[in-house]
Amino acid sequence: MKWNFDQTSVMERAIDALVVPVFEGTKMPKSYKEIDGFVGGVITRAVSSSDFDEKANSTHLLYPTVQNTVCERVILLGLGNKKKFTLDVLRKAIGSATIMLQGKKIVRFGLVLPEEVFTQAGNKEIGEFIARGVHVGMYSFDQYKTGEGAQVVPVEEVMLIDVSGARQKGLRAGLESGDVIGESITVVRQLGNLPPQEMTPTYLANQAKAIAKAVPGLRCTVLEKDQIIKEGMGGLLGVASGSAEPPKFIMLEYNGTGSKKTKPIVLVGKGITFDSGGISIKPSHQMDEMKYDMLGGATVIGALRTAAALKLKKHVIGLVPATENLSGAAAYRPGDILKAANGKTIEVLNTDAEGRLILADALSYAQRLEPKYVVDLATLTGACLVALGMERAALFSEEEKLLDLIEDAAEKTGDQVWQLPLGPEYTEMITSKIADVKNIGGKYGGTCTAAAFLQQFTDYPWAHLDIAGTGWNMKPKPWIRAGATGYGVHLLTEFLRKA
Ligand code: BES
Ligand code: MG
Ligand code: ZN
Repeated sequence: MKWNFDQTSVMERAIDALVVPVFEGTKMPKSYKEIDGFVGGVITRAVSSSDFDEKANSTHLLYPTVQNTVCERVILLGLGNKKKFTLDVLRKAIGSATIMLQGKKIVRFGLVLPEEVFTQAGNKEIGEFIARGVHVGMYSFDQYKTGEGAQVVPVEEVMLIDVSGARQKGLRAGLESGDVIGESITVVRQLGNLPPQEMTPTYLANQAKAIAKAVPGLRCTVLEKDQIIKEGMGGLLGVASGSAEPPKFIMLEYNGTGSKKTKPIVLVGKGITFDSGGISIKPSHQMDEMKYDMLGGATVIGALRTAAALKLKKHVIGLVPATENLSGAAAYRPGDILKAANGKTIEVLNTDAEGRLILADALSYAQRLEPKYVVDLATLTGACLVALGMERAALFSEEEKLLDLIEDAAEKTGDQVWQLPLGPEYTEMITSKIADVKNIGGKYGGTCTAAAFLQQFTDYPWAHLDIAGTGWNMKPKPWIRAGATGYGVHLLTEFLRKA
């Protein structure tokens, strides 16, 4: 996708549509005066009529009647209440306009920015949010739809109109980093949306390898089943035992510090490419959604891609244990006792609590990397949706510094989090009578007992994000189509920048 700048006065290239964001209940902003003149005053007329409601993400299509215009259409775009305005509001609105325009097969459009945007943040940050908005808006998982016109057209060019020269440099830098983040978000969404017969552990590993090959500075190593056995990863092997697909332990590394000695920041992601529940099988209703159970892993791959492509001066390692959770003849059973890579024994009481078993091995593995921080992401518990809904990931950590870093990154990127507790009351609930731990707690506090379980395999500054609610949405929103959301890529990028 191309980003360009142009001035109204010298607008030489024809644009199919000009997107004009406006706040609720305000008059035509002064800064739009020139552009309004250019489109024959149609913005003033529309804004002063009551036809257009400026609620966030609303769009309104106008046709300027002036002759010789190089601007065929004007799209008024609602930004909502000026007092509630944030960059996240802007990027969602821009995503909404993108989707609306794609519906009209318009793939080159202009965008003007209200002056208020520039009081929100620096130019680079603004650019980053604009790019993310367009990327998230334009992506559509439609490769399996046959028939003419079944595929959504990708955006080709966005022209930023009437941005002062002083602002262009910063904006461009942000648009470029936003492109990288936006593309990584798309990679994650695509991996998540692919059907599970295609998106197997082998496929995920091959994608990680392909990404590492394409991005300078990024390396990928995949442990195969025999090596996983040698590493004593009993959790991963136990879960994989019910599937004909071989498990993979995917590792990505990027070191932008210039020193081999810098302690790495380790990101760990759950890579269950399909979760049937195993012998403790899930109900069939919406079981198809369990193709998304690898989104923690995909997000880690996306974050490593971004860190390397943005050349962050950080040492980052990604660990993604990947397997299916099926109930084949050799499947592990409730009652089995597994031994994780750190030697701890786990009593399996429910084969559907499989994410924590494979993460136990990955978190154990992280120990030997002498990490500065370890952050894991997992679509870990249905209880997380009950507790927090679809807009916030559950955040667990006992390290103040790490909590601050993640909460700040969440605040900045709009990838929201909410802290939930760890503590002896939860640890008690996962203590087994016959092994070191058991893989389920009780009926209540399922998200917290899952986190308390993971904590048993960490001996370093660690945080856990349960992304069960935020990873995908079954209903489309004005700024994003249904399916995997790419939640966490921007969050992790911002976290890595500051950590
Ligand atoms: N992948 C699921 C969690 C999940 C369920 C995420 C629904 C998003 C939507 C996980 O492997 C799982 O099955 N967890 C169980 C744990 C229980 C058996 C303790 C759950 O949440 O029911
Ligand atoms: Mg499960
Ligand atoms: Zn699962």
